[in-house]
Amino acid sequence: MQITDSVIYMGVDDHTTTLFESLWPLPAGVSYNSYLVKGEATALIDTAEIHTLPEFLARLRQHDVNKIDYLVVNHMEPDHSGLIPELKLLYPDMKIVGNALTVNMINGYYGISDSESFLIVKDGDTLNLGKGRVLSFHTVPMVHWPETMVTYLACEQLLFSGDAFGTFGAMNGAVSDTMIGDADIYFREMRRYYACIVAKYATPVQNALAKLGSLPLKYICSTHGPVWCEQVHRVIEEYDRLSRNVTEPGAVIVYGSMYGNTAQMAEIIASRLSEKGVDKIKVYNAATTDLSFILADIWKYNGLIIGAPTYNASIFPPVRNLLEALKLRGLKHHVAGAFGSFTWASVACRQIADALTDMGLDLTGEPVEMKMSLTPETESKLRAMADAIAAKIVKSV
Ligand code: FEO
Repeated sequence: MQITDSVIYMGVDDHTTTLFESLWPLPAGVSYNSYLVKGEATALIDTAEIHTLPEFLARLRQHDVNKIDYLVVNHMEPDHSGLIPELKLLYPDMKIVGNALTVNMINGYYGISDSESFLIVKDGDTLNLGKGRVLSFHTVPMVHWPETMVTYLACEQLLFSGDAFGTFGAMNGAVSDTMIGDADIYFREMRRYYACIVAKYATPVQNALAKLGSLPLKYICSTHGPVWCEQVHRVIEEYDRLSRNVTEPGAVIVYGSMYGNTAQMAEIIASRLSEKGVDKIKVYNAATTDLSFILADIWKYNGLIIGAPTYNASIFPPVRNLLEALKLRGLKHHVAGAFGSFTWASVACRQIADALTDMGLDLTGEPVEMKMSLTPETESKLRAMADAIAAKIVKSV
C-alpha cells in the first residue's frame, strides 16, 4: 500500500456495483482510489463511493490514521466525494481543500457550508505539509466536471490526477502497474472508461495535457485503476491519442436486426473487408452487446459501418441510441459507411447516413438499402461499399 515514502494507497475495490453511474457494466469491478500524504501534517486525497464506507474505515484503522489535517477534494462526483460527511464527523478539525466551485458543490451535496471547514485554493496555490511535502493544485475544468482539479506532489514527482488516466477494473490486491501481470487489461478498460465517460470532454483533456505537460512525472495516481509508475509515458500517450481521436486501422461494424436480414448485410460487409485486407474487424449487434464495449472499439479503430432496419419510421432503437452517443461525444476522424433495411418505409439507411455525415465523418461508398431481404444486386452494392471503405482503411496503415 506504500507508494512512495510519503504516499500511502487508501483505495477500495468495489465488486458489488454492476453498473457504474447506473450505466456502464463492471464485469471486473472498479476501484475508488484515495491516497494519504504524510508530512508533519497529513492530507487525504479524495475519498470513495458511499457504499464502501466499511472498507474505507478498515483502511483508516489499518493505517492508524488518528488525524487527518486536510482532505483534498480533486473531484466532486459522488464516487469520490461520497465519504466527505462521514470523514468530517470522524475528523472534525479536518480542513476540506477545494476551489470555489468545489465548495459550492459540497454545500449542495452534503450541506457543509461553514467557512471554517474549508481551505479554498486557486489554480497554482500550494499547501506545505512539512518535511518537504508540498502539494500544488491545478484546475482542469471538465476533466470530468467543472470543479475538477489535480494535485501535484513535487518531492515525489507524483500527480493525483482525478478521473484522468483512470480505468474500470478492481485492483484485486495490487496497487501499481509494477504489481500487475497483464497491464493491457487495464489499458483496454481505460479506453472503455474514456469512451463512455470522458470522451465528450476531449478538448478539456487536451488543454489539461498541455497545461500539465511540463510537470516531471514519476507516478500518476488516478481515482480508478492502477497507480502508474512503469507505464507513465504510455498512459499519457494513450490519453493524448484518445482525446485527439487518433485510431488504428480496423473496422467496427454495428448493426441492429430483428429477424436476421440486416445481420446478413453486416456479415457480407465484414467478409468483404477481410478479403480486402482489413485484419481487425469487430462486428457487434447493438441490441445484444453493451454500448460501452462498442464505444471502446470505435475509439480504437478508424472504420465505422453502421446499419439498422427502419422501426417506427426511424432507426431501430439500439442503433439510434449508438448514433446519439457518438454525436454527444463528438466522434471524429473515421471512415464511415451506412446500410439499412425496410419493408414499407425507407427511412433508417438514409437517417444513418445523414447522422454520420452530420458528425463530419468521411462517409464512403454509396449507403446500401435493402427492401425486405437480400438480393444479388444488394449483395453487390454491399461489396462495392466495403471495397471503398477497405481501400481507405488499408491505405491508412
Ligand atoms: Fe470517477 Fe467523474 O468520477
